[in-house]
Amino acid sequence: MSNKRILLIGPNGQVGWELLRCVQPLGHVIAAGRNQNEQIQVHLDLTNPDSIRRVVREVKPTIIINAAAYTAVDKAEKESELAYTINGTALGILAEESQRLKALLIHYSTDYVFDGSYTQPYIETDTVKPLGVYGASKLAGEQAIQSVGGHYFILRTAWVYGLRGNNFLLTMQRLAKERDELKIVADQIGAPTWSRMIAQATTNILAQLDTSLCQVDIEALSGIYHLTCAGETNWFEFAKAIIIHENKQPNILPITTDEYPAPAKRPTYSVLSNTKIAETFGIKLPTWDKALELCLLS
Ligand SMILES: NC(=O)c1ccc[n+]([C@@H]2O[C@H](COP(=O)([O-])OP(=O)(O)OC[C@H]3O[C@@H](n4cnc5c(N)ncnc54)[C@H](OP(=O)(O)O)[C@@H]3O)[C@@H](O)[C@H]2O)c1
Repeated sequence: MSNKRILLIGPNGQVGWELLRCVQPLGHVIAAGRNQNEQIQVHLDLTNPDSIRRVVREVKPTIIINAAAYTAVDKAEKESELAYTINGTALGILAEESQRLKALLIHYSTDYVFDGSYTQPYIETDTVKPLGVYGASKLAGEQAIQSVGGHYFILRTAWVYGLRGNNFLLTMQRLAKERDELKIVADQIGAPTWSRMIAQATTNILAQLDTSLCQVDIEALSGIYHLTCAGETNWFEFAKAIIIHENKQPNILPITTDEYPAPAKRPTYSVLSNTKIAETFGIKLPTWDKALELCLLS
């Protein structure tokens, strides 16, 4: 295990921060990101192809985990070029560099690659049809990795929250203190997923690949996997489950997406089936409400 060199890109994000703590036992972790702070050991800016190539060539990782992304769903509608550069173009370069080293690339994608027209959980091979720039740029990243090939895992997750960063949980906790009434969208269905569980599942996959499989198997297993908490809910119910733990509890009213217009269109139903990751790696995350309780207790 200790001869593994893990290049972790984006250690200050929700998932990246948890990964930085989780993957340490698997090898030597080198944290890379665009902003100078105590977590970042190496400067890497995904908008700069030279920066990506230089860092990968210098670090010579055996595993690259990319937790960095352009994640501002609404802002992406106006910053399309930047979103595609970070979420799409950069991934093609990372995949090429990873392939050169015969390294394993772990990357995260999103439920927003789907249009939400289904009524049952999406499987990995279902037709993708993003409704907005963010989803389309993440899809471009998936396709860039797939066209390079090699050893890669694309983990599509959804509705990510945790105790750090920008997310729905922290927004609801703040609004509960500030307001007496909240109006929350109740007609978008998905699976809230705690960032720590994504990091733990990733670590579990890496440990299994390291201990039990040869390189040929990794190539055969490479592909897209869905990874979310189990069950499904909507933002209104998720908000209620959060607010119930707050000292001050505002009144929460359900509204429709039409009543809360946002620049980016979102899928009305984006629940992902986790069957493939369960059958391949035995990974089954708890239900979203159980995970929320665990997060709030952490
Ligand atoms: N958040 C969600 O609800 C959600 C849902 C589905 C899928 N996902 C996917 O899950 C993954 C992790 O998401 P997250 O919520 O943990 O993201 P996040 O908290 O928004 O963090 C993203 C990180 O990317 C870094 N980054 C952005 N642009 C960069 C650049 N040009 N060069 C280097 N680093 C850059 C940011 O760095 P700074 O700290 O310097 O800003 C930040 O730390 C992403 O692939 C995302 O698309 C997220």
